[in-house]
Amino acid sequence: MLPAEAVSQINNTLEKYPDSRSALLPALYIAQRHVGHLPLDALHAVATLLDLPDAHVRGVASFHVMFRDSPGGRHLVQLCTNVSCMLAASSGLLDVLKEHFGLRPGATSPDNRFTLLEGECIGECEKVPAMLVDSDVHTGLTAESIIEILARYE
Ligand code: FES
Repeated sequence: MLPAEAVSQINNTLEKYPDSRSALLPALYIAQRHVGHLPLDALHAVATLLDLPDAHVRGVASFHVMFRDSPGGRHLVQLCTNVSCMLAASSGLLDVLKEHFGLRPGATSPDNRFTLLEGECIGECEKVPAMLVDSDVHTGLTAESIIEILARYE
């Protein structure tokens, strides 16, 4: 079951794509944004709206790391740990996140503010290290700036 607002946004999104398969990723984003994660009933609702097989929708949702099947923190932090970011010491930032926010990859902070994932390249390789917080891009991270940035998210 999806909130009416999510259904409306998915239907609007559908109009922008040539076929419903192309609209699947944005539809899953919308569903997750409204529900907080993607339980089976939300995946079924997306499949029904897009007239796609449930198995296809579940397969796509489970393949992509940014979709969660269980509740997480209020904000999803995806710290890029691909080659360029790793060379720019993003692994040291993982230590900072652990020390200051109690965050470990794949887990949620004790205050339920953040869920942390080690993410893939977000196309900001010239300004590494980089991360996504929800859909916000942050680049050129340092130990100091990552703390300052996350402090803005309640
Ligand atoms: S490798 Fe991190 S943004 Fe590209």
